Amino acid sequence: MTKVLMLKSSILGEYSQSSALVDYASKKWSAQGVEITTRDLGSNPVPMLDGEIAAGLRGGDNLSERQLTALALSDELVAEIKAHDTIVIAAPMYNFSIPTTLKSWIDFIARAGVTFAYTDKGPVGLIEGKRAIIVTTRGGAHKGGSTDHVVPYLTTVLGFIGITQVETVYAEALNMGPDAAEVGISQAKQAIDAMTL
Ligand SMILES: Cc1cc2nc3c(=O)[nH]c(=O)nc-3n(C[C@H](O)[C@H](O)[C@H](O)COP(=O)(O)O)c2cc1C
Repeated sequence: MTKVLMLKSSILGEYSQSSALVDYASKKWSAQGVEITTRDLGSNPVPMLDGEIAAGLRGGDNLSERQLTALALSDELVAEIKAHDTIVIAAPMYNFSIPTTLKSWIDFIARAGVTFAYTDKGPVGLIEGKRAIIVTTRGGAHKGGSTDHVVPYLTTVLGFIGITQVETVYAEALNMGPDAAEVGISQAKQAIDAMTL
């Protein structure tokens, strides 16, 4: 059975449009027998990376309680990726980039020797055989343009840890009037409908 990890990252709770699209996909795919796990980084945030935590994530002896807690969470998040076939990442655009909730998750899963390694040929991703689907919502229209720092950034980070099969569902122009928003959501739902897992 295909296993899908759904990552929500909006700060807008029940009003989130990216979470609503992820829920739409979850409902559809679970009816097809797909096993879904949902992690809401908005309501259950990963702590912001600081010097103490960054040092703790490198492991070693004499770690503080706070470092041990962070390391355990990081291990859990990495294991969660490994336990699923497909990772769906809800990525609303906030100030041209990803929400800090999602950046903190990335800061906890990008670990040298665990999810990537530096070799004499450059960095190598250690997460193999996974597919990622980015579901990005945005108030304006940015697809493919120089103002989209969401999709290129996430594609780079995912590739860095070894996830090179990346697809994107766009819901654009959501704050450009009700008609444009309806088109944006409907196009995103059509893209989800067209996917096979
Ligand atoms: C803090 C914040 C910053 C935003 N910045 C941008 C932006 O830079 N460009 C844009 O097109 N839309 C921006 N928006 C609009 C959101 O991308 C849009 O409302 C999207 O649907 C939010 O997804 P969500 O409802 O899942 O959080 C911003 C919204 C918020 C709350």
